[in-house]
Amino acid sequence: MCGIFGYIGKKDAENLLIEGLENLEYRGYDSAGIAISNNNKVDIIKHAGKVEELKKVLKEKHLLGNVGIAHTRWATHGLPSELNAHPHTDILKKVTIVHNGIIENYLELKKEYNLKTITQSDTEVIASLLAIMPEKDNLEKIKNATKLFKGTYALAIIFSNEPNIIYLAKKESPLMVGKSGDDIFISSDANAFKKYCKDFYILKNNEFAKIKYNKIEFFNKSKKINKKINKFLNTFSFENKNKYLMQDEIVQTPDALRETATFFNNFKNIKNYFNNVNKIYLVACGTAYHSCLFGKKYLEFLNIPIFTEIASEFKYSKHLIDKNTLCIFVSQSGETADTLSCVKKCKCKTLAITNVPNSSITFACKKTILMKAGWERAVASTKAYSCQLLVFYLLKCLLKNEKAKTNTLIRKSKEYLNKLNLKSLASKVLNYEKIMFIGRQGDYITAKESALKLKEISYINCTACPSGELKHGTLALVDDKTLIFLISTQKNLISKNLLTKEEIEARGGKCLIAGDFDEADIVLPHLSSDLMPIISILPFQSLACEVSIQKGYNPDKPRNLSKSVTVE
Ligand code: F6R
Repeated sequence: MCGIFGYIGKKDAENLLIEGLENLEYRGYDSAGIAISNNNKVDIIKHAGKVEELKKVLKEKHLLGNVGIAHTRWATHGLPSELNAHPHTDILKKVTIVHNGIIENYLELKKEYNLKTITQSDTEVIASLLAIMPEKDNLEKIKNATKLFKGTYALAIIFSNEPNIIYLAKKESPLMVGKSGDDIFISSDANAFKKYCKDFYILKNNEFAKIKYNKIEFFNKSKKINKKINKFLNTFSFENKNKYLMQDEIVQTPDALRETATFFNNFKNIKNYFNNVNKIYLVACGTAYHSCLFGKKYLEFLNIPIFTEIASEFKYSKHLIDKNTLCIFVSQSGETADTLSCVKKCKCKTLAITNVPNSSITFACKKTILMKAGWERAVASTKAYSCQLLVFYLLKCLLKNEKAKTNTLIRKSKEYLNKLNLKSLASKVLNYEKIMFIGRQGDYITAKESALKLKEISYINCTACPSGELKHGTLALVDDKTLIFLISTQKNLISKNLLTKEEIEARGGKCLIAGDFDEADIVLPHLSSDLMPIISILPFQSLACEVSIQKGYNPDKPRNLSKSVTVE
């Protein structure tokens, strides 16, 4: 949620900042703005709407200069508007600031320090507070001001009395710095400057940076520090072939699976971490939670209690956690605040399964298994979900000393995606008022994930229901305006599923079966039952994307959602 970008070097900052914001737009896209230092003053342009809108404004009025900070916002405090967009300043424009995170006590600070503000944003309070800090040195001002904050922040700050310096401060929200020759880049996601830099620094909690032309200095609360440099991990290269990122990302699934399967060999020692484990909690949000539901099925052979928990619920519940409990946290981004707050609660064995190296959840967990799905930027998670399921499958094979059979999975998923065309099915979906996804066992989990995909990017009110539960209430919804997708990939359940189809059709509903047999309406390739869930979600990811496009929406940027949910 929200993206920060910054640049100091010899080049014109404006284009680089805009490019950075475009790369970060998956983190939020309700308003955007840039601030550039020029001739001892800081010029700001900001706009409500997507970065595209900001670009239009900048065509009319360019900002010159080689030092700048930029922000793409996802509103938390205050409406998405030009006024509330970042960068923010204090009333006298002594401090210009972009901020990710939330300062929970901003209203108390505003009152206590009698700060004059004109926006509804907590960030303006930070700028106003910094402007009245009595210290002479700007870094000391930041250190002392941040002591007063309750909440989370990644901050990039320019003081008007030092217009060629960018200061950084970080707590919980990610912030990284990359250097390439004379060019220095700042971002809340290193991928946004990966094109320019081979390596980068990661700020840890309560660390600060002072950056000027060709010079980066890092500090903790008390002194100057040296920081280790991080290399970007090689990842598979892919072309953007389609209009939307989500279309590309679904097509990239076989490559993502192949890379993840190969990379998993680096994590084989994790087997020892399971020694003496007496119970497992699998914790995540949204799509990652659905992969936990499968994770439980993959790990059930361990014959120990396994619980799946939605992170935003887990943190308020009582658990039987002891030193032999293993909590597994699944998160594509590694930054989801609900999940992160659970990690902190668990004083036991902790394992992260994430797609982003050096993310907050990987730092907070004792062990990590990293996937290699490649950068996922469309808000709806697709290839990362498939890789999460694959990691659980590989974990199962590792713990059971079984050979993993990933080659067939990768080949069949590639062949399947190559010929998948759901345009005409998508247009049929538009004729129905109610959409449901049903299935039994693992297919019910796929049904849940399919319903989430469709609702989040097409805004169709759809639900998932275990097939057998239909007759216990939900069948009341079924009429001739209802379309039900029945997922059926388990041979022993086909006859039961055909009965369910009859129940639906007797009430006038339309039922389409997705299964790995010729009579199915959506025919899936056949794989072993362990691997079927990784294939059976593919048509429903594609269908959701196609329905969204046919409804005239941009599937990459659905309303009311952002990719990385860094607020609880
Ligand atoms: C849905 C989706 C979300 C995320 C959820 C957790 O397509 O992407 O439901 O799965 O917000 O995000 P991560 O996996 O980054 O923790």
